[in-house]
Amino acid sequence: MTQRFNGKVALITGAASGIGAATARLFASEGALCVLADISEDGAKALAAELGDSAMAIACDVSKQSDVDAMVQAAVDRHGRIDILFNNAGIGSFGTSVELTAEAWETVIAVDLHSVFYACHAAIPHMPRGSAIVNTASISGLGGDYRFAAYNAAKGAVVNYTRALAVDHARDGIRVNALCPGLVDTPITAGFHDIPGLKEDWTRRIPMGRAAQPEEMAHVAAFLASEAASYVTGSIIVADGGATAHTGQPEIAQFADSPTE
Ligand SMILES: NC(=O)c1ccc[n+]([C@@H]2O[C@H](COP(=O)([O-])OP(=O)(O)OC[C@H]3O[C@@H](n4cnc5c(N)ncnc54)[C@H](O)[C@@H]3O)[C@@H](O)[C@H]2O)c1
Repeated sequence: MTQRFNGKVALITGAASGIGAATARLFASEGALCVLADISEDGAKALAAELGDSAMAIACDVSKQSDVDAMVQAAVDRHGRIDILFNNAGIGSFGTSVELTAEAWETVIAVDLHSVFYACHAAIPHMPRGSAIVNTASISGLGGDYRFAAYNAAKGAVVNYTRALAVDHARDGIRVNALCPGLVDTPITAGFHDIPGLKEDWTRRIPMGRAAQPEEMAHVAAFLASEAASYVTGSIIVADGGATAHTGQPEIAQFADSPTE
């Protein structure tokens, strides 16, 4: 197996579950020294135990700057530098701008957006030339969804902040890109499966007709973090089974056999 990340120090937030955990497993399988940060200390520790001595777990609430500073310091104390920063921790939200409380709005913006600034602010001084940052945004950062107002705002900001980071730090030899997943089968979306008919309607709207597995996102994050992406920076990489390629207009052939007659 190729070892794209041999000896590379990878700091991953939201590492205990879903996309973060799948990415940590892939990075570690290719030689990375993984620093696994999550608000779930037990989850991060369990994954670190699975990955072995090269991995370490850190309890961190990414919405708190002091926690993020401590997370970066712990990684630097152990390894002396950070080669890959995967800003992946995130939470969803539900509600229109009238329904959302200010507190709910501020929580989503803090966890999904402020966290990325805090981590970049603290980590970039410890990132050598050739390093890479990958931010998990979402296709919800590229358009609006019904009742996802705060999430749409946070992820949209992560998309453009990624471009700003890429421009500011290109001359430092640090590449910065965003991953925009569509629907991925992880605990964050598991609750949707309990709503009758929702999963079927959702997957029907995806040209590939299914949700992604977290490992499919890990492979995209790994490409962006790897040397193979050495000239890729400021890019917003969509991995959504074709969801945003579609205009949303109906499939005419479902209603008429010969639509041009
Ligand atoms: N699953 C999807 O369909 C989907 C689609 C687009 C984008 N995303 C994004 O992917 C990222 C990962 O989500 P996932 O689908 O793997 O979900 P997940 O719930 O499986 O994983 C998220 C992880 O983040 C951690 N976390 C939550 N709040 C935190 C905080 N304040 N500090 C530190 N850690 C915290 C959780 O404990 C969890 O381990 C998120 O940014 C999410 O918005 C997910």
